[in-house]
Amino acid sequence: MRCILLALGLLFAGSARCRSDDDEQHLEQELEPLNRGPYFDPTASPNVTALVGKTAVLNCRVHNLGNRTVSWVRHTDIHLLTVGNDTYISDQRFIASHFPRTEDWTLQVKYPQRQDSGTYECQVSTTPPIGHSMHLSVVEPKTEILGDADMYINRGSTMNLTCVVLHSPEPPPAIVWTHDKEEINYDSPRGGVSVITEKGEQTTSYLLIQRAQAADSGKYTCHPSNANTKTVTVHVLNGEHPAAMQHGGQLRLSNPPFVVMLATLLAFRNNRH
Ligand SMILES: *[C@@H]1O[C@H](CO)[C@@H](O)[C@H](O)[C@H]1NC(C)=O
Ligand SMILES: *[C@@H]1O[C@H](CO)[C@@H](O)[C@H](O)[C@H]1NC(C)=O
Ligand SMILES: *[C@@H]1O[C@H](CO)[C@@H](O)[C@H](O)[C@H]1NC(C)=O
Ligand SMILES: *[C@@H]1O[C@H](CO)[C@@H](O)[C@H](O)[C@H]1NC(C)=O
Repeated sequence: MRCILLALGLLFAGSARCRSDDDEQHLEQELEPLNRGPYFDPTASPNVTALVGKTAVLNCRVHNLGNRTVSWVRHTDIHLLTVGNDTYISDQRFIASHFPRTEDWTLQVKYPQRQDSGTYECQVSTTPPIGHSMHLSVVEPKTEILGDADMYINRGSTMNLTCVVLHSPEPPPAIVWTHDKEEINYDSPRGGVSVITEKGEQTTSYLLIQRAQAADSGKYTCHPSNANTKTVTVHVLNGEHPAAMQHGGQLRLSNPPFVVMLATLLAFRNNRH
């Protein structure tokens, strides 16, 4: 005889029962959908990504709940947050709610911070309780320029800087580029300067400068109007570097001394011949 706890719906709710293996088939017959106890709808209870400071809402959809209660548990410290409508944590940012005649139970996290990220579980008070876990990620808008913080390109080639704004609540209304703190003027007499911005869930801005000259070296900063700025330093290399030419003119090396070493080596070879 094996003893198991059964939590299989109205028929057995809360009862403990011992059964032999012979009972197995009998049990399955009793598990008809009508008699089924509470169960979760995982597609309506998904993982959530929320922005820092913007109320996060976790949803838990439970079918056949009957007269049982729904609780929320935080996994990081195994803290019981709410039972039914009541909050069991001193942190008042956690609020449970349920709209009558729906099967949705929600947990609101007000003013979420990065450290609120983690697993949250919605539990139903069957015996034993059943649970559905979901992950909350609290993120901040973030700006990146692809490539290394120092970028090496050959004189005469096209400089292509790609700025990406991630996790922005809405696409940045504007993205401004500066070169050594001066706003880049696309109509300047220099010519050959253009920007392409693609807005969306992830906004990308490409700054293209054709026929790069030594004067184009310096710090380039991408300034989205609703996220942090990001800066890279561009070095326009004078003279020819065979290795660089083979790679379409744009060099992205993480190791500047290598360039210097290569240049020295070439100079050395040229002197010998
Ligand atoms: C829930 O309902 C069942 C019958 O459907 C009843 O036996 C049980 O006592 C009820 N539990 C509570 C906490 O009201
Ligand atoms: C929870 O709150 C809702 C709305 O205020 C109410 O209709 C419901 O009866 C409450 N449930 C419990 C278990 O207190
Ligand atoms: C939810 O997030 C967890 C942890 O990141 C992951 O393991 C799980 O696969 C995700 N579930 C879905 C449905 O995406
Ligand atoms: C600039 O670089 C990005 C990222 O590498 C690339 O997707 C894009 O096509 C490039 N644009 C041009 C005009 O070369």
